[in-house]
Amino acid sequence: MLRRTRNEAGRIAARPPLAGRPDSQTPPRTPRYVATMHDAASPSHGLSLRLNGRRVLVAAAGEATPALVRLALRAGAQVTVCGGPALPADAAHPRLRRDDRAPCLDGLRLCLTADAALAGRARAAGVLCAVPGRPDLSDVAGPWDDAAPATDAPATDAPAMDAPATDAGALPAPSRPRAPGRASLVGAGPGDPALLTLRALQVLATADLVLHDRLVGPEVLALAPAHARRVDVGKRCGRHVMTQAAINRLLVREALAGAHVVRLKGGDPFIFGRGGEELDCLRDAGLDVEVVPGVTAACAAAARLGIPLTHRDVSRSLHLVTGHGSDNEIPALDWGALAATRGTLALYMSTRTLDGVAARLIAGGMSPATPAVAVENVSLPGERVRLATLATLPGVLAGDPGEGPTLVIVGEVVARVRAGALRAA
Ligand SMILES: C[S@@+](CC[C@H](N)C(=O)[O-])C[C@H]1O[C@@H](n2cnc3c(N)ncnc32)[C@H](O)[C@@H]1O
Repeated sequence: MLRRTRNEAGRIAARPPLAGRPDSQTPPRTPRYVATMHDAASPSHGLSLRLNGRRVLVAAAGEATPALVRLALRAGAQVTVCGGPALPADAAHPRLRRDDRAPCLDGLRLCLTADAALAGRARAAGVLCAVPGRPDLSDVAGPWDDAAPATDAPATDAPAMDAPATDAGALPAPSRPRAPGRASLVGAGPGDPALLTLRALQVLATADLVLHDRLVGPEVLALAPAHARRVDVGKRCGRHVMTQAAINRLLVREALAGAHVVRLKGGDPFIFGRGGEELDCLRDAGLDVEVVPGVTAACAAAARLGIPLTHRDVSRSLHLVTGHGSDNEIPALDWGALAATRGTLALYMSTRTLDGVAARLIAGGMSPATPAVAVENVSLPGERVRLATLATLPGVLAGDPGEGPTLVIVGEVVARVRAGALRAA
């Protein structure tokens, strides 16, 4: 029997096992969920099932096994896998164990299985069941089968369930089924829409929700459909308007609710863009993710300046380096080793720390006379190029750091800068 309450917004809220008895198995901690029930009246919020610390059985679930295991682990559950294919080697996890004997149903919170007979036995033993793709046999709906209808309600960062409460029993099936959506991590390039890839354009054209960095300009955002919501999740004065954890949650929640969520990031999503963290969260939630590369600032700046980033006569390697460590400190890299490569260094996020970075490179053996260039706002209005040397560029930038994003390139290739690029600065 479920106990449900309706809050002022008309949402159904659920509470963990009731019953006037303390549930020693339910430690008070951050709620984590794997399954969300939606009701037709308030589709973006609904009833969720708390699985943190609870036992979940994934049994005879066939090809869906790895995705179901990931979901349950993500929700904090203790997971037993029984039957189904071997899990990939990288699935090892302290809360995961394999036991291919007849499944033990005692103490289970949830049984995820493709075996209808097992689901029947589990339910008879008082265990909640979900049979992927068979809502008629399931007590719990989830991202493994058709979920909730889409919503135009604005996304919030509130957890799907803020008031726990469920006992056991059959839950109503959603009235308008909608499959889980998908997510795309898309590189927007350095700013000029002409530097987007064709694939980025195609993906944007099917977006329902675009979560974008601050530097992604209006011309690029205009390429998403008119109905798509656009949310700026970027930085303001060095601070994110939304934390990375909140961005991750928003991405996952909206995609699970059926949207095509496009995470649009400046440059390339996997270069100093936290794209890897977002990818992990989406994959952990069992979602399909497409990654679309973008033109990274170093390549855009080099093209603008007309310099090759590598050249067999003067530079045999390219190093993409951040000048920004935690607390605005210089990152603890082996600057001497970088100097010794005699390759090209592309320094991202280095305007404030360039003085110290240059000192470390010079101490590591790089000539103070090595050509160095700072390119601000590459491909954008306000583009500015300042050419100097490793020793003098920090002073140039200190006197006038500029307000736009700035990339610094250090290396002998910089000497090949074309005169036209400097005149335009
Ligand atoms: C958080 S990193 C993101 C890098 C991005 N993912 C890429 O691949 O270009 C931000 C830094 O990239 C560089 N950057 C990004 N866009 C730029 C632009 N249009 N002009 C110059 N530098 C840029 C700057 O060094 C900036 O501080």
